[in-house]
Amino acid sequence: MNVFGLDIGGSGIKGAPVNTKTGKLTGGRIRVPTPRAGRPDDVVATAVKVISRAKWDGPVGVGFPGVVKEGVIHTAANVDKSFIGFDLGERLRQELGSPVQIVNDADAAGLAEIRWGAGVGVEGVVLMLTLGTGIGTALFIGGKLVPNTELGHIELHGGDAEAYASDRARKVANLSWNDWSARLVEYLRKMEDLLWPDLIIIGGGVSKRSEKFLPQIKTRTEIVPAEMLNAAGIAGAALAYVPEASVPPEPPAATLHQRSQK
Ligand code: BGC
Repeated sequence: MNVFGLDIGGSGIKGAPVNTKTGKLTGGRIRVPTPRAGRPDDVVATAVKVISRAKWDGPVGVGFPGVVKEGVIHTAANVDKSFIGFDLGERLRQELGSPVQIVNDADAAGLAEIRWGAGVGVEGVVLMLTLGTGIGTALFIGGKLVPNTELGHIELHGGDAEAYASDRARKVANLSWNDWSARLVEYLRKMEDLLWPDLIIIGGGVSKRSEKFLPQIKTRTEIVPAEMLNAAGIAGAALAYVPEASVPPEPPAATLHQRSQK
């Protein structure tokens, strides 16, 4: 099935049609900058612009950077606070006249990695992190998503962890890769102590530069960079529309033990 995947981010709204069997984009990727005020009306208008530029009139799956339940936005850490309580799903359905499903952006990226990327066939507990403006988390058990985990907001040094260890925190404080890696290790160790995952996947824009920081990261859990890089947000958003998406594809691929011997 083909679904238009739409990734709503702080700086841009990006989308493309996606084949939900293969995860491949079946058309060009379109990006329009997110309006500065970023209020719901502006974001909806921009999302509609992206979809109409693509001349798309089929189903749309959306990734949004906040808690989403049945299309309604419940948190807004890095977007305008007026999103809280906003029924984005209903509004987009009205504007587009098409079916729309919405999931959290990190959950979308995680679904894509579990289905087509670094998490394929991994049994046990997988934690996907997206490091960008914030820290997004997606938690899987046996390939099944526990939706809307918000583990980027645990307390670290008396503040919000994402203000300490996100990629934005690195840029704002002008940290060297080494200094930022040290912060990230602190965060990752907390995650390990709380969740005891079997695999951690590091995604988000910064995963393109994983050679700058992953070698410095020593944790007891295996850590790998996301494989789908930028495509994960869009491809995973399309999976919002396919409820069975979180079931790992058949046949089951290697177990963790076999992976580590690759
Ligand atoms: C939000 C999450 C989101 C993450 C990445 C966090 O600030 O609370 O919902 O997944 O940023 O965008």
